[in-house]
Amino acid sequence: MKKIVFTAFIYLGLLFNSTNSFAQSNNDLATLPPMGFMTWNYFGVNINEQDIKTLADAMVETGLRDLGFNYIFIDDGWQGGRDNKNNMIPDPKKFPSGMKALVDYVHSKGMKIGIYSDAAQLTCAGYTASLGFEEQDAKTFAKWGFDYLKYDYCGAPSDWQTAIHRYEKMATALRNSGREITLGVCEWGDRQPWLWAKKAGGQLWRTTADVRDKWYSGSKINKPSDLHGKGAGIFDILNLNAELAAYAGPNGWNDPDMLVVGLYGKKGAPSSDLGGKGCTDTEYQSQMSLWCLMAAPLMITCDVRNMNDATKRILTNKEIIAIDQDPLGKQAVRLVNNEIWQVFIKPLANGDTALGILNISDKEQTSDINLSSLGITDVETAKDLWSKKTIKLNSKKNLKVKVASHETKVYRLN
Ligand code: GLA
Repeated sequence: MKKIVFTAFIYLGLLFNSTNSFAQSNNDLATLPPMGFMTWNYFGVNINEQDIKTLADAMVETGLRDLGFNYIFIDDGWQGGRDNKNNMIPDPKKFPSGMKALVDYVHSKGMKIGIYSDAAQLTCAGYTASLGFEEQDAKTFAKWGFDYLKYDYCGAPSDWQTAIHRYEKMATALRNSGREITLGVCEWGDRQPWLWAKKAGGQLWRTTADVRDKWYSGSKINKPSDLHGKGAGIFDILNLNAELAAYAGPNGWNDPDMLVVGLYGKKGAPSSDLGGKGCTDTEYQSQMSLWCLMAAPLMITCDVRNMNDATKRILTNKEIIAIDQDPLGKQAVRLVNNEIWQVFIKPLANGDTALGILNISDKEQTSDINLSSLGITDVETAKDLWSKKTIKLNSKKNLKVKVASHETKVYRLN
């Protein structure tokens, strides 16, 4: 009897241990798509502690933090090489107070903070990266207090196997670092990371090449690698990411890259090359709408210390953000995709449905949708989440609405 009890204890112990390590196995680090401010599109590698502190302040003052944008993501350009023990160090000119102090500051603002590295010897911008130092770098990031790592793939071999292996290696290192650190996989969709990145230990994965501050590249894109060198616009990225709805869910999100909302073609910024001359506010509002429908991570990149009213209005729409952050965690399915319209449906946790209607043509169009024909029958009202007007639906469930060129209407159907 004693032996049985003892064995049972050991068994339970093992079970508890494995459940415990499962809980820590970074499986629950991004139950909702992460949101925040990312340095890359606006600053490029010209980042420093003073800017990051004032950005964190602005996230609080503008109310963005309280709307859910609670991360500051430091991108490439922070690195200052390694010390004589091979520990990574920040560039002392950009970060004279050191990383720990900066992380503490951001945390003191009630925010989280992310850092950046790459699965090769050098990053995309040519700075020191983590290949061969995964364990040591993960421990350094943990010691500094980081909550997130964007792990890029420049300078690494193109085959799938190596990519999976290198991401697994960093994911394991993060798990063993003593801190919960979310992992963002960034290999631009070239090796279909939606098939393996979650299993490898990532919570989100970029699905395309870098977004530029523009609507459309002008070329037909069939796969992520078609976009390299062409300059991916909002519309190009939408077309790739919209096809991946089945792969998104809590702790594993398709990442269609940063929001370009409010950049207005800022000169010298990485988002301005390859034709990134800026978008209209209608197009920026469409990006916000479509990214929220697609349950995308929301990474603001315009200067939140100096937003105009249009930018503020687009980024702070609570009801639109709630579509992105809906706890059901479904990415919208694209039901219509023709030369004028794209129509999206996203089921929500409380039984409501979000409906997105994008006019891709270059003039205003009238959409006359029969919701029943889309399989939506038990709804009474449609609330336009941008104009805030609620329409009572007729018995046939018709929704007739004018949509401007490149505009996306978003409705909450109840
Ligand atoms: C790659 C990534 C970008 C950015 C830069 C930094 O291009 O896709 O998002 O991180 O590297 O160099």
